[in-house]
Parts: sequence; structure tokens; C-alpha cells
Amino acid sequence: MSPSLSPGRAKAPNGRIAYVNGRYIPHARASVHIEDRGYQFADAVYEACEVRDGAIIDLTRHLDRLDRSLAALRISRPMSRPALVFIVREVVRRNLVHDGSVYLQVGRGVARRDHPFPSAPVAPSIVITAKHTDRATSERLASAGIGVITLADNRWGRVDIKTVGLLANVLAKQAAREAGAREAWFVDAGGFVTEGGSSNAWIVTADGKLVTRPDSAAILSGITRRGVFDVAKVAGLTVELRPFTVAEAKAAREAFVTSATSIVLPVVAIDGNPVGNGHPGSIALELRLRFHDVAEATLVVN
Ligand code: PDD
Repeated sequence: MSPSLSPGRAKAPNGRIAYVNGRYIPHARASVHIEDRGYQFADAVYEACEVRDGAIIDLTRHLDRLDRSLAALRISRPMSRPALVFIVREVVRRNLVHDGSVYLQVGRGVARRDHPFPSAPVAPSIVITAKHTDRATSERLASAGIGVITLADNRWGRVDIKTVGLLANVLAKQAAREAGAREAWFVDAGGFVTEGGSSNAWIVTADGKLVTRPDSAAILSGITRRGVFDVAKVAGLTVELRPFTVAEAKAAREAFVTSATSIVLPVVAIDGNPVGNGHPGSIALELRLRFHDVAEATLVVN
């Protein structure tokens, strides 16, 4: 086993480092201005990518989505793509993250508090952090499966833009935690599941088809969801892009969620009702196992 695989060693020797507006700063001292519009108005977007075996997973797709989020809000890009890739890798490298995640947030910038965009152009703010997570713990969670609760989707109408305005998601995930579950599934006015508080929602039908909601303003177009489309293609599985109800999910053969930080996690209970036989489904576990065979891996050289 390489030393960086043991959890205690996978830490930066001098503590964590964050990249904040042009500088690498000790994490404990890293801060933003009190009139940063991300802080005051959630006027900022973000990405979170998995780091696995010292590589950043699906970085191109994440940065493409970051560009789409920035364009949707008319926030200018903080720097060129190659410069951004360099710094993202550098933050992972400086933090010696072998398995974990890298987070980047870009906001409209700092200006005297006033709701409309600043009239004089300001530089966008950028923060990049990386953290270690223990792979064995994630694997244990996947082998056990997770419970989800369902609740009304009370978010704004453009959740396809990955903004840091996540209060509804925070409250939903806290409700899940208090109910002894790991995720909350939002449900639209028609009774159809939109997505999870921090993941996309899927079911597997009795005849083994994967079902997930099509792209629209009502869900985030997940990068892991896209990756699972790729895995499904290779594995010869059919994906049906359509909404499903809570009742259909409760009666499904399997259910699972996808996100960059959890990859594929089997759902074994919905609102306390077991899904299938109450154990992680074989298709979900297979997708999890094969995900990294098809995903892009951008190596970070230490
Ligand atoms: N969240 N839907 C929501 C609301 C999310 O917050 C996320 C990811 C996803 C899955 O997208 P992706 O596969 O691109 O990670 C769907 C990240 C992990 C987060 O907020 O930390």
C-alpha cells in the first residue's frame, strides 16, 4: 500500500492550503471580503469534483458546466481554461489529496451592497479548496446502501445552474439526517421526483431499465449522471429519460443516487419503506464498480 493511501498520511504536511483570488493561503487563514456578492447574495456558482487515486475525475465536463453556469448568470470567467486547470491541480497537489474532492467557487466579485450587478466592472472572485476523504468509509456506505426521505421541491426555478444558493438543499438534507436518512429527494407539484439535495435520483425498473429525469431547469445536469449514461452504454443497459413518481420509486427493483462525491450510492429505503429486498441493488453496485473505467482522469503529479 502506498503511504498516501493510509488516511492519517494523506494530509498536507503543513496543513491545508486554499487558493483565494490569486494566492495560495493556509486554509485556517483563508477568507473573502464581507461584501463578496457570493457571501451576501449567493451570487456565485461552484463545482465539486472527485479526486481518486491522485487524479481529478471528469474535470473537463465539470469545467464545461462551470462555463455554462457562469454564462447563465453573466459572470465573467476568472481566467483561461488552462490556467484554471493548472490551479485546480495545484490545489489538489499542495494538499496531497489522493482520494477526496476539489471544490471551486466563482462569484460575481466584491462590490458595495446593491442588488443589481455592479455598474463598474469588478473582478470575479475565485476560491478553490481540496479535501481528503476516506475511501473505505465510502465503500462501506455503498455496501450498506442509504435511506432517502421525500419532500416538496421548494427551490427556485433554475436549479440547472449550479449556484451556491443552496438553503433549500441544506434544510432538506438536515431533515433527512434528522429522519435517520442520508439524502432527501425533492418532489415536484405533480408528484414526480426531481432530484436529491446533492445528487441525481434514479430507479431501476422490473425489467432492468435505468430511469432518470431528463435535463430541464428542474434538475442539475449531473456530471456523474452523464458518466452513468456512458457506463450504461458500454454495459448494454437501457436508460429511459422520464420523470418517475415516489410511488413508482418505492415499488422499483432498485433505486440509487449519483454525484461526484458519492459516485453511485444504492438507495435501500424511501420514506422508511424498503426498496426491492431492502439491500443494495446489483445494477447500482455494478454501475459504481465500472464508473471509473469510463470516466476521464486528470492526473495530479505530486
Ligand atoms: N452536488 N443535484 C444536485 C442538487 C447536486 O448538488 C449535485 C452535486 C448533483 C450531482 O451532480 P454531479 O454528478 O455533477 O456531482 C445533482 C455536489 C457534489 C455538491 O454540492 O457537493
